[in-house]
Amino acid sequence: MTSIFLPSGGDSNLTKVQFDASTHGDRMTRLGSVIRELAVLVGVYLEGQGQSASPLDELSGLAAAAQVREVGRITQRRRKPETATYIGSGKLEELKELVNTVDANLVIFDNDLAPSQTKNLEEHLKVKVIDRTELILDIFAGRAQTNEARLAVELAQLEYSLPRLKRMWIHLERQGVGGVGLRGPGEKQLEVDRRLAQKRILDLKSELNTIQQRRYREVTARKTSRTVSLVGYTNAGKSTLLNRLTDSDVYVKDQLFATLDTRTRRWHLPGWGPVLLSDTVGFIRDLPHHLIAGFRATLEEANQADLLLHVADASSRNVDIQIDAAFRVLTDIGIREKDTLLVLNKIDVLEPDQLEVLLTKYPNAIPISAGKGLGIESLTVAVSDILSKEFLDLTLEIPVANGRLMALLARDGEILSKCYGEDTVLVHCRVPQHLVGRLRQEKEIHGLPENITQF
Ligand code: GTP
Repeated sequence: MTSIFLPSGGDSNLTKVQFDASTHGDRMTRLGSVIRELAVLVGVYLEGQGQSASPLDELSGLAAAAQVREVGRITQRRRKPETATYIGSGKLEELKELVNTVDANLVIFDNDLAPSQTKNLEEHLKVKVIDRTELILDIFAGRAQTNEARLAVELAQLEYSLPRLKRMWIHLERQGVGGVGLRGPGEKQLEVDRRLAQKRILDLKSELNTIQQRRYREVTARKTSRTVSLVGYTNAGKSTLLNRLTDSDVYVKDQLFATLDTRTRRWHLPGWGPVLLSDTVGFIRDLPHHLIAGFRATLEEANQADLLLHVADASSRNVDIQIDAAFRVLTDIGIREKDTLLVLNKIDVLEPDQLEVLLTKYPNAIPISAGKGLGIESLTVAVSDILSKEFLDLTLEIPVANGRLMALLARDGEILSKCYGEDTVLVHCRVPQHLVGRLRQEKEIHGLPENITQF
């Protein structure tokens, strides 16, 4: 949270109103309201958008994740957004009527609104208006647990808030914050606030940069181990699968964006050996780009992975849209081309014919239930097969006394058997091809075939 003191009138009379980055400065309207807000959801869809039967379902899930109660919906299809209000004038009147009828105190747009559009809409509707990005930032702020996630969210919020500082002042003024005497900020004060926010943005970027470089070094240093990353739409079951495969107890909850931080666990993959398995932040359609930038370090794991397991919630009626959305995020962060295995999760709650339809559509997908432990063996075989393409079966002779080499083979490969002689041991093992170059530098290893070319 960043504290910026907003003056109530004269310079000497500062009212300590906190500029709360976790609620993008709009503290007085967000705080307290989160619990009690009753919202009308609005979706304005341009050509090619909002294709699903119920396009506002995702926003509805997001609203629930922010503890906002949905009390109405309005959608409109348009060729292009109305410049001043995004939604057309006729629909705007309909929206106003609905807001009054259901007594809503919040309107959430499933679109990205320009600051001026938000302002015009609020003036017309007389209730608070937020857009999809603002809602997602709010959820992320509530979920961020680690220092890194908090910094990333704060940065995204400040960048989002900067062009909207004036609106924040108007809110405060309307709420009577600071009591009598709180006047509009005036350009001079706005300039001060902007500069403070900009300075904080620079500091946050520098802190995040340091973290990202450290993360990059850590991830590349582990490169001798094969890494598999779980990616996919939020709430698809990635953490549950991580727990199932690695026997751990990562936080699992039926809520969007339960995981904001990468967790990496050692997975002893039957038929292959140990690999590192990491969980990543959940994806969503049009994840705000400020957030993607902030979470780049978290996504570095996926970027460096040898294989991505794309987990999808097969029980969701929007499964196709969610799969597509996850692919789009992968494209956005530049890792679409990686080896990817689609995993259809939650098959325990599917009818057999539903599964059949999905498997016709995605013939290479692996159906599983991470929760119930179904299909896990097929999944491990499929992963093992993919990784094995780069794997060599070798018998090496190393000195008995060289425990370091044995540890290296065990850590990065799989030791199948050992046969001890007097001074040396014959090790039957499988090692990843990329380790061969490293093994060649070891003078005490014998048995490495000459004709193996390193990848
Ligand atoms: P984010 O952190 O939001 O990205 O979620 P995630 O993809 O890590 O999902 P998570 O593992 O937290 O699971 C989300 C919800 O789905 C939880 O309520 C799980 O219990 C439930 N779930 C996971 N796997 C299964 C499954 O195989 N069957 C059923 N029925 N529910 C499952």
